[in-house]
Amino acid sequence: MTRRPIYRRQFLRLAGAALGASALADCGLAAAAAGVFDETPPAAPMPDITFGGNQMDPKILVAYASQAGSTAGVAEAIGQALARNGIPVDVRPINAVGDLSPYRAVVLGSAIHTGEWLPEAQAFVQRHQEALRRIPTALFQVCMMMAAGSEQYQHMTDGWFEPAAAAVHPVAKKSFAGALVLNRYPKLSDRLGLRIFLATIKLKPGDYRDWDAIRGWAKSLQPLL
Ligand SMILES: Cc1cc2nc3c(=O)[nH]c(=O)nc-3n(C[C@H](O)[C@H](O)[C@H](O)COP(=O)(O)O)c2cc1C
Repeated sequence: MTRRPIYRRQFLRLAGAALGASALADCGLAAAAAGVFDETPPAAPMPDITFGGNQMDPKILVAYASQAGSTAGVAEAIGQALARNGIPVDVRPINAVGDLSPYRAVVLGSAIHTGEWLPEAQAFVQRHQEALRRIPTALFQVCMMMAAGSEQYQHMTDGWFEPAAAAVHPVAKKSFAGALVLNRYPKLSDRLGLRIFLATIKLKPGDYRDWDAIRGWAKSLQPLL
């Protein structure tokens, strides 16, 4: 439990540096460093789809919270892999999910921001924790520190599951490397902060998702759900 405060201090230092850098935002150098000249791409796709199976059979839900779309992509790949067994699978943004009664099992995932699940994922766990405890529930999270290949960071990421895991008692949990593409973040100050974060964990911006690992984990879930 000491990991979280240490992490928070590190992140606050980063945020402080980002704030300082954002004060330089009018300076061309800072703007170039943040990739301000990139074009902002269209909003990331957030799939809300059903894969395969007999629609009369009890379904599996893969619900996800994602800001820039990489966690949505991971959720979609998990849903597709689970549906290969003929089971119908709904892949839905977490905010689109109301009632859990149609589901025999749930796979729940969130992007990580500042060492935590996104607020909508935390709220979903709070709201549905009793229902989620009654059916097999697996958790996943998507973050950049998993891509950095450091044991210290991987150890840190385990702690980010704690609030959700304590609430729902999951049958499995897994952290995946994500994607951080700076022009997905329209605010210059965000891009500066994220650049500093990436430099600190010695990573270049990019897409680090490992599709074999993602599909492999989904396959390993089949007997558990
Ligand atoms: C504001 C912000 C804070 C982040 N904080 C962390 C963090 O604390 N640890 C980490 O490993 N990755 C962190 N990341 C990286 C994201 O977890 C990663 O880019 C993830 O793939 C984003 O998911 P999304 O594309 O579904 O939004 C952060 C990204 C953003 C934008």
